[in-house]
Amino acid sequence: MLSTLSANAAEAAKSIVIYFSHTGENYSVGVIQEGNTAKVAKEIARVTGADLWEIKEAEPYPAKYKPCIERAKKELQAKERPAFQGTAPDLSKYETVFLGYPNWWGEAPMVVYTFLEKAKADGKAIYPFCTHEGSGLGSTARNLARAFPKVKVEQNGLAIYGHVAQKDEAAVKKAVAEWLKGLGLQK
Ligand SMILES: Cc1cc2nc3c(=O)[nH]c(=O)nc-3n(C[C@H](O)[C@H](O)[C@H](O)COP(=O)(O)O)c2cc1C
Repeated sequence: MLSTLSANAAEAAKSIVIYFSHTGENYSVGVIQEGNTAKVAKEIARVTGADLWEIKEAEPYPAKYKPCIERAKKELQAKERPAFQGTAPDLSKYETVFLGYPNWWGEAPMVVYTFLEKAKADGKAIYPFCTHEGSGLGSTARNLARAFPKVKVEQNGLAIYGHVAQKDEAAVKKAVAEWLKGLGLQK
Protein backbone atom coordinates (compact mmCIF):
# COMPACT_ATOMS: atom_id res chain seq x y z
CA MET A 1 0.00 0.00 0.00
CA LEU A 2 2.74 2.39 1.05
CA SER A 3 4.76 1.64 -2.06
CA THR A 4 1.68 2.28 -4.25
CA LEU A 5 1.15 5.60 -2.53
CA SER A 6 4.74 6.72 -3.00
CA ALA A 7 4.74 5.52 -6.60
CA ASN A 8 1.64 7.65 -7.22
CA ALA A 9 3.22 10.63 -5.52
CA ALA A 10 6.34 10.31 -7.67
CA GLU A 11 4.15 10.09 -10.78
CA ALA A 12 2.11 13.16 -9.79
CA ALA A 13 5.23 15.22 -9.19
CA LYS A 14 6.56 14.70 -12.68
CA SER A 15 7.45 17.69 -14.80
CA ILE A 16 7.76 18.26 -18.50
CA VAL A 17 9.48 20.98 -20.47
CA ILE A 18 7.71 21.75 -23.73
CA TYR A 19 9.34 24.20 -26.07
CA PHE A 20 9.41 25.65 -29.53
CA SER A 21 12.70 26.94 -30.90
CA HIS A 22 13.91 27.88 -34.35
CA THR A 23 17.27 26.99 -35.90
CA GLY A 24 18.96 28.61 -38.89
CA GLU A 25 19.70 32.28 -39.26
CA ASN A 26 18.62 34.50 -36.41
CA TYR A 27 19.06 37.99 -35.07
CA SER A 28 22.35 38.61 -33.26
CA VAL A 29 23.58 34.99 -33.28
CA GLY A 30 24.11 34.22 -36.97
CA VAL A 31 23.27 30.71 -38.20
CA ILE A 32 22.62 28.35 -35.29
CA GLN A 33 22.30 24.58 -35.12
CA GLU A 34 20.44 24.58 -31.83
CA GLY A 35 17.85 27.26 -31.02
CA ASN A 36 18.31 29.71 -28.16
CA THR A 37 15.14 28.60 -26.38
CA ALA A 38 16.16 24.96 -26.82
CA LYS A 39 19.27 25.64 -24.77
CA VAL A 40 17.22 27.07 -21.90
CA ALA A 41 14.68 24.25 -22.17
CA LYS A 42 17.41 21.64 -21.85
CA GLU A 43 18.88 23.34 -18.80
CA ILE A 44 15.47 23.40 -17.06
CA ALA A 45 15.00 19.71 -17.88
CA ARG A 46 18.50 18.90 -16.66
CA VAL A 47 18.01 20.64 -13.33
CA THR A 48 14.47 19.42 -12.63
CA GLY A 49 14.73 15.96 -14.18
CA ALA A 50 11.73 16.84 -16.35
CA ASP A 51 10.82 15.18 -19.61
CA LEU A 52 11.46 17.23 -22.72
CA TRP A 53 9.14 17.67 -25.71
CA GLU A 54 9.80 19.92 -28.68
CA ILE A 55 6.96 21.52 -30.61
CA LYS A 56 8.04 21.14 -34.24
CA GLU A 57 6.02 22.95 -36.85
CA ALA A 58 4.65 20.70 -39.59
CA GLU A 59 5.70 23.08 -42.35
CA PRO A 60 9.23 24.26 -41.49
CA TYR A 61 9.82 27.95 -41.00
CA PRO A 62 12.39 29.32 -43.44
CA ALA A 63 15.98 29.04 -42.24
CA LYS A 64 16.67 32.58 -43.48
CA TYR A 65 15.84 35.33 -41.03
CA LYS A 66 13.86 37.69 -43.28
CA PRO A 67 11.40 35.17 -44.77
CA CYS A 68 11.01 33.66 -41.31
CA ILE A 69 10.01 36.93 -39.68
CA GLU A 70 7.67 37.67 -42.57
CA ARG A 71 5.86 34.36 -42.25
CA ALA A 72 5.66 34.75 -38.47
CA LYS A 73 4.16 38.21 -38.87
CA LYS A 74 1.57 36.97 -41.35
CA GLU A 75 0.60 34.10 -39.03
CA LEU A 76 0.26 36.47 -36.10
CA GLN A 77 -1.83 39.00 -38.00
CA ALA A 78 -4.16 36.27 -39.30
CA LYS A 79 -4.16 34.47 -35.89
CA GLU A 80 -3.25 31.32 -37.78
CA ARG A 81 -2.84 28.01 -36.01
CA PRO A 82 0.00 26.27 -37.89
CA ALA A 83 0.07 22.52 -37.36
CA PHE A 84 2.83 20.77 -35.42
CA GLN A 85 4.34 17.35 -35.94
CA GLY A 86 3.18 14.33 -33.96
CA THR A 87 0.78 14.14 -31.05
CA ALA A 88 0.94 16.38 -28.01
CA PRO A 89 2.13 14.56 -24.88
CA ASP A 90 -0.47 13.55 -22.32
CA LEU A 91 -0.24 16.40 -19.82
CA SER A 92 -2.39 14.60 -17.24
CA LYS A 93 0.77 12.67 -16.31
CA TYR A 94 2.49 15.88 -15.24
CA GLU A 95 2.07 18.16 -12.30
CA THR A 96 4.33 20.89 -13.64
CA VAL A 97 4.52 22.04 -17.22
CA PHE A 98 7.23 24.44 -18.38
CA LEU A 99 6.53 26.09 -21.71
CA GLY A 100 9.30 27.78 -23.69
CA TYR A 101 9.25 29.87 -26.84
CA PRO A 102 11.03 32.75 -28.53
CA ASN A 103 9.38 36.15 -28.44
CA TRP A 104 8.14 36.61 -32.00
CA TRP A 105 6.71 40.03 -32.74
CA GLY A 106 5.88 40.47 -29.05
CA GLU A 107 3.94 37.21 -28.96
CA ALA A 108 4.48 33.51 -28.46
CA PRO A 109 4.69 31.92 -31.94
CA MET A 110 1.28 30.86 -33.23
CA VAL A 111 2.31 27.20 -33.23
CA VAL A 112 2.50 27.43 -29.43
CA TYR A 113 -1.15 28.44 -29.44
CA THR A 114 -1.91 25.46 -31.70
CA PHE A 115 -0.17 23.25 -29.18
CA LEU A 116 -2.18 24.58 -26.22
CA GLU A 117 -5.41 24.20 -28.14
CA LYS A 118 -4.63 20.54 -28.88
CA ALA A 119 -3.05 19.54 -25.57
CA LYS A 120 -5.48 19.03 -22.73
CA ALA A 121 -3.96 21.69 -20.51
CA ASP A 122 -7.04 22.81 -18.55
CA GLY A 123 -6.29 23.05 -14.84
CA LYS A 124 -2.55 22.72 -15.42
CA ALA A 125 0.01 25.09 -13.97
CA ILE A 126 2.16 26.28 -16.84
CA TYR A 127 5.44 28.08 -16.27
CA PRO A 128 6.44 30.12 -19.31
CA PHE A 129 9.98 31.00 -20.30
CA CYS A 130 11.17 32.79 -23.36
CA THR A 131 14.22 34.04 -25.18
CA HIS A 132 14.18 37.39 -26.91
CA GLU A 133 16.39 40.21 -28.15
CA GLY A 134 15.05 43.08 -26.09
CA SER A 135 11.32 42.60 -25.58
CA GLY A 136 11.58 40.13 -22.70
CA LEU A 137 8.40 38.16 -22.09
CA GLY A 138 6.45 41.26 -23.08
CA SER A 139 2.78 40.44 -22.80
CA THR A 140 3.24 36.83 -23.94
CA ALA A 141 2.34 35.28 -20.58
CA ARG A 142 -0.64 37.61 -20.11
CA ASN A 143 -1.88 36.87 -23.62
CA LEU A 144 -1.57 33.12 -23.10
CA ALA A 145 -3.50 33.41 -19.83
CA ARG A 146 -6.21 35.40 -21.61
CA ALA A 147 -6.41 32.94 -24.50
CA PHE A 148 -6.51 29.89 -22.20
CA PRO A 149 -8.45 30.97 -19.10
CA LYS A 150 -8.68 27.40 -17.76
CA VAL A 151 -4.89 27.05 -17.76
CA LYS A 152 -2.98 28.53 -14.82
CA VAL A 153 -0.29 30.47 -16.64
CA GLU A 154 2.33 31.64 -14.14
CA GLN A 155 2.99 35.34 -14.73
CA ASN A 156 6.46 35.32 -13.22
CA GLY A 157 8.04 33.79 -16.31
CA LEU A 158 11.70 33.61 -17.20
CA ALA A 159 13.13 35.78 -19.98
CA ILE A 160 16.69 35.41 -21.25
CA TYR A 161 18.36 37.23 -24.14
CA GLY A 162 18.72 34.85 -27.08
CA HIS A 163 22.39 35.56 -27.66
CA VAL A 164 23.08 34.94 -23.97
CA ALA A 165 21.19 31.64 -24.11
CA GLN A 166 23.18 30.69 -27.19
CA LYS A 167 26.63 31.66 -25.96
CA ASP A 168 26.74 31.86 -22.18
CA GLU A 169 25.98 28.54 -20.52
CA ALA A 170 26.91 29.81 -17.05
CA ALA A 171 24.45 32.71 -17.34
CA VAL A 172 21.68 30.31 -18.40
CA LYS A 173 22.42 28.01 -15.46
CA LYS A 174 22.31 30.94 -13.04
CA ALA A 175 19.10 32.44 -14.45
CA VAL A 176 17.32 29.07 -14.49
CA ALA A 177 18.41 28.23 -10.94
CA GLU A 178 17.27 31.61 -9.62
CA TRP A 179 13.94 31.41 -11.43
CA LEU A 180 13.15 27.90 -10.18
CA LYS A 181 14.14 28.88 -6.67
CA GLY A 182 11.92 31.98 -6.82
CA LEU A 183 8.98 29.81 -7.87
CA GLY A 184 9.66 27.35 -5.06
CA LEU A 185 10.24 24.59 -7.60
CA GLN A 186 13.85 23.95 -6.69
CA LYS A 187 15.96 24.43 -3.57
C1 LIG B 1 10.06 35.84 -36.40
C2 LIG B 1 10.88 36.51 -35.33
C3 LIG B 1 10.33 37.58 -34.63
C4 LIG B 1 11.05 38.15 -33.57
N1 LIG B 1 10.47 39.16 -32.85
C5 LIG B 1 11.10 39.64 -31.74
C6 LIG B 1 10.49 40.63 -30.93
O1 LIG B 1 9.40 41.12 -31.21
N2 LIG B 1 11.15 41.03 -29.82
C7 LIG B 1 12.37 40.51 -29.46
O2 LIG B 1 12.91 40.90 -28.44
N3 LIG B 1 12.98 39.57 -30.23
C8 LIG B 1 12.37 39.12 -31.35
N4 LIG B 1 12.98 38.15 -32.11
C9 LIG B 1 14.24 37.57 -31.67
C10 LIG B 1 14.01 36.24 -30.96
O3 LIG B 1 13.06 36.36 -29.93
C11 LIG B 1 15.30 35.69 -30.36
O4 LIG B 1 16.29 35.64 -31.33
C12 LIG B 1 15.08 34.33 -29.72
O5 LIG B 1 16.15 34.06 -28.85
C13 LIG B 1 15.00 33.21 -30.75
O6 LIG B 1 14.86 31.99 -30.07
P1 LIG B 1 15.00 30.58 -30.79
O7 LIG B 1 16.44 30.45 -31.27
O8 LIG B 1 14.70 29.61 -29.70
O9 LIG B 1 14.01 30.53 -31.88
C14 LIG B 1 12.32 37.63 -33.23
C15 LIG B 1 12.88 36.61 -34.00
C16 LIG B 1 12.19 36.05 -35.05
C17 LIG B 1 12.80 34.94 -35.87
